[in-house]
Amino acid sequence: MSSAYQSCGGDLIISLIAAVGKSYQLGGENQMLWHIPEDFKLFKSRTMSHHMIMGRKTFESIGRPLPGRTSIILSRDPSFKAQGVFIFDDLQVAIDYAKERGETELFIIGGAQIYSQALPLADKIYLSRVDYDGKADAYFPEINNNEWSEVEEAKYEATEKSPAWTLSLLSRRK
Ligand SMILES: NC(=O)c1ccc[n+]([C@@H]2O[C@H](COP(=O)([O-])OP(=O)(O)OC[C@H]3O[C@@H](n4cnc5c(N)ncnc54)[C@H](OP(=O)(O)O)[C@@H]3O)[C@@H](O)[C@H]2O)c1
Repeated sequence: MSSAYQSCGGDLIISLIAAVGKSYQLGGENQMLWHIPEDFKLFKSRTMSHHMIMGRKTFESIGRPLPGRTSIILSRDPSFKAQGVFIFDDLQVAIDYAKERGETELFIIGGAQIYSQALPLADKIYLSRVDYDGKADAYFPEINNNEWSEVEEAKYEATEKSPAWTLSLLSRRK
């Protein structure tokens, strides 16, 4: 790994952005486990005009490139093709690509495989903690509290359609 991309070392901020259940659940059967429109809005405003890196499964779950942002998809399958996105078979090469294009804050948007590979490189984690205790088959990697400090930014009550959730920002301890 190039030292230029070690956490907090360069001028590119690498941010993970995720919503997790009480046991760090991320998804099930390649779908999200809840529907929280307010969280989607925040995701949209944070990521707008930035580069985003995601795994091939997350891209297929979303089903299309998200407008106004540059989508970079990771896949090791040379036959994988999709319109309107950039495809790479290596995380570091994908990060380098975003940096070469002048990105200042790169968003890693999942899923489980990509979060776990990118966590050691990350400077920030935008984490939505959802009051969900159900099943999942994809989980966020373990966050070591010695390495991260967490600030709770907002609390949201449950609605008829959405569980309660808390918006947190985690920063890598210096
Ligand atoms: N709650 C949230 O915030 C959130 C956010 C995103 C996703 N999700 C959920 O997460 C789940 C998907 O996560 P997942 O772990 O199954 O899949 P994923 O991380 O989205 O994608 C995995 C795929 O990425 C490719 N890949 C992984 N590492 C790679 C590398 N180093 N180089 C090149 N390609 C690489 C491989 O694609 P190939 O097989 O094509 O080689 C692999 O199968 C879904 O349930 C989704 O809904 C939740």
